[in-house]
Amino acid sequence: MINDLYDRVTNETLQELIADYPIVADFFINYNLQNLENELPFSEALNKVDENILIDFGLNKTTVLDQLVLFLQTVSGEEQTTTVQEITILGGQTKSEDVEEFVFSIKSGEIISIVGPTGSGKSRFLADIECLAQRDTPTKRQILVNGRALEDEERFVMDGRLVAQLSQNMNFVMDLSVGEFLEMHAKSRLHPNPTKVVAECFAAANELVGEKFTLQTKVTQLSGGQSRALMIADTACMSTSPIVLIDEIENAGVDRRQAIHMLAKNEKIVLISTHDPLLALMAGKRLVIKNGGVYKIIETTPEERESLAKIEMLDNTLQSIRNKLRIGDRITPDTI
Ligand SMILES: Nc1ncnc2c1ncn2[C@@H]1O[C@H](COP(=O)(O)OP(=O)(O)OP(=O)(O)O)[C@@H](O)[C@H]1O
Ligand SMILES: [Mg+2]
Repeated sequence: MINDLYDRVTNETLQELIADYPIVADFFINYNLQNLENELPFSEALNKVDENILIDFGLNKTTVLDQLVLFLQTVSGEEQTTTVQEITILGGQTKSEDVEEFVFSIKSGEIISIVGPTGSGKSRFLADIECLAQRDTPTKRQILVNGRALEDEERFVMDGRLVAQLSQNMNFVMDLSVGEFLEMHAKSRLHPNPTKVVAECFAAANELVGEKFTLQTKVTQLSGGQSRALMIADTACMSTSPIVLIDEIENAGVDRRQAIHMLAKNEKIVLISTHDPLLALMAGKRLVIKNGGVYKIIETTPEERESLAKIEMLDNTLQSIRNKLRIGDRITPDTI
């Protein structure tokens, strides 16, 4: 199926493609490619446009082709949304190439945290899941989906749909308003009710930030924390990916507990790499990483959950000090 679509996209002219799939015109509009020459096949037509158009969307000439194939697959109704009940990570090797002995399964609906010293390999662990590693990354880990290893083609098909990743750096290149940005996302994900989901997503993003923004605010004018909140809400409300990976949410200046709850709904598998005790203990289990390998797997005990309440109080105190400083108040001994 995928190969057939690949052949069609590679060989047919855009005119032929649009005749069979009129909705493809929307795909081109979404990616600002409405002026392609219709009598050429997609790749050849792309060669005639400035690649910067694609860079704005985080794409290049190869990945936009993949996106088009996936889009066609979706609209032609033959897409099977992979239901992920479980992923399993099989150990590989540590940084010093010692065997990493562990097998760990995560079921849908679970929140898992990844802790460990700076540079120990937390982000690497998330990256292995993101690329559905098959013993071909530096850690030599293997990821199974529903207990099964993945063929190369499946990996490609699932790419970008199984995993939603929230990383520290969000750079918006396009000069869209928040409303336009969300609308574009809703449409490119073929959401059945774009207006409704845009409103939900906008409200959710604003719940996470201190200073609110409007639908007219340009995405390029959002602060670091605001753009992060927008991406969290976007993932929570629009993404159908069953796995969410979060790297270092604590530095983002958003309400992180609420963000995790927002992301964890809908039975997703959530993995959070964190240095923050609150987030680490919110998870049902935590993986401790050391020297590039999983060193311990710890289940959060009821006792730890109880201390979570105390840590939350400490955190609230810190948060109120932070807020006082933000609004220009003085800190007095009784604030603390
Ligand atoms: N098992 C491994 N084998 C080889 N290299 C590894 C392994 N695990 C991690 N690394 C490498 O070690 C480096 C540091 O890892 P990583 O960036 O994941 O650390 P981190 O725990 O996320 O640190 P921080 O807390 O600063 O974000 C990276 O270059 C990563 O690719
Ligand atoms: Mg990291």
